[in-house]
Amino acid sequence: MKNLKKDFPIFKTYPELVYLDNSATSQKSQSVIEAVDTFYKNYNANIHRGIYDLSQTATDMFENVRKKVAHFINADSEKEIVFTASTTESINLVATGWAKKFLKKGDVVVLSEMEHHSNIIPWQRLRDEIGITLFFLPLTDDYRLDYQKFSGDFSKVKLLALTHVSNVLGTINPIEEIVAYFRENGSGVKVLLDIAQSIPHLSIDVKKFTCDFAAFSSHKMLGPSGVGVLYAKKEILEQMDPLLVGSHMIGRVTKEKVTYADIPERFESGTRNIEGVIGLGTAIDYLQQTGMKEIEKYEKEVTEYALEKFASVGKIKLFGPKISHNRIGVFSFAVGTVHAHDTAEILNRFHIAVRSGHHCAQVLMECLGISGTTRASIYLYNTKEDIDALIKGIEEVKDTFKQ
Ligand code: ALA
Repeated sequence: MKNLKKDFPIFKTYPELVYLDNSATSQKSQSVIEAVDTFYKNYNANIHRGIYDLSQTATDMFENVRKKVAHFINADSEKEIVFTASTTESINLVATGWAKKFLKKGDVVVLSEMEHHSNIIPWQRLRDEIGITLFFLPLTDDYRLDYQKFSGDFSKVKLLALTHVSNVLGTINPIEEIVAYFRENGSGVKVLLDIAQSIPHLSIDVKKFTCDFAAFSSHKMLGPSGVGVLYAKKEILEQMDPLLVGSHMIGRVTKEKVTYADIPERFESGTRNIEGVIGLGTAIDYLQQTGMKEIEKYEKEVTEYALEKFASVGKIKLFGPKISHNRIGVFSFAVGTVHAHDTAEILNRFHIAVRSGHHCAQVLMECLGISGTTRASIYLYNTKEDIDALIKGIEEVKDTFKQ
């Protein structure tokens, strides 16, 4: 694949930047930046509310992105796509709008030890509210999910709520296998996937996963911040309650009562991030033009290169699978006994941007017996030279801290 950095203005602004914090957020292409700019200059109006041309055009642009998203993840219909503010909001919508309504005391929600806080805390709150039980699937020694370790009554498992890819370990979970295992052993289990860390890198097909819900964010896949997506099967969405009530999501309001709008508008109260959704549409265009299969292949090559380099550096511990099979280019590591923040700080002196800390995965940190890691995460514009710069930076960390 050709070097894509030229499509991303930040690398022109900072030619020395080695951006390796893509799991936190991706950079934005010129096309995405222009789409947002053009929207404000040429099309800005509120949507679904105006009879005038500008509002109609803005509405059409917004609704076209809904179709594009549905097509991108192979949903049956754009009615199955809800625009939220974030992955976090999407998962909260499932917990409050579906699970709180349909689960009862004693029902089990299966999570994993590698979940992001976004896919733990909504379930803990629901546990405290209605008495569901949470089960955390453990990890194997090579940082994969030991999903056959579920112990309990399968018939009580009502929801599997799992991340597709770990934001710390880079592990790709074998979702189809896990779902088949639980469905063979129990019945009627629903599946919610957190695909925030996978959709930027891998082709996603919600039908192949046979999932009922999937949550992701625009900002990790080249699009603007403040836009999340919840995919949910139409028949499930139709039974769900909204998370927020108020503007736009209504059918009819009287002093006494309200009827809600049809799906998906029922879940989109207030004025949504219109320009953000438009930008997400352009981000999807960019990803599709580049080709998801091409992106996956290219990133695998860079990941293999990075894994070889990591293996050649002494005094470094990698938290994640050591081989590129079923993993993406997220590298969490410790350099000897150096604190994760110190490592990130030294790397920053060489213009290398990485994240350090618990990565919103404190349950995982506890299971690994650590307080945090330094994490380098790649995306489609990173090159093997970026990995070389990282490894050189790590050598500087070792020198500085006499490791
Ligand atoms: N969830 C994002 C991360 O892993 C913010 O950094």
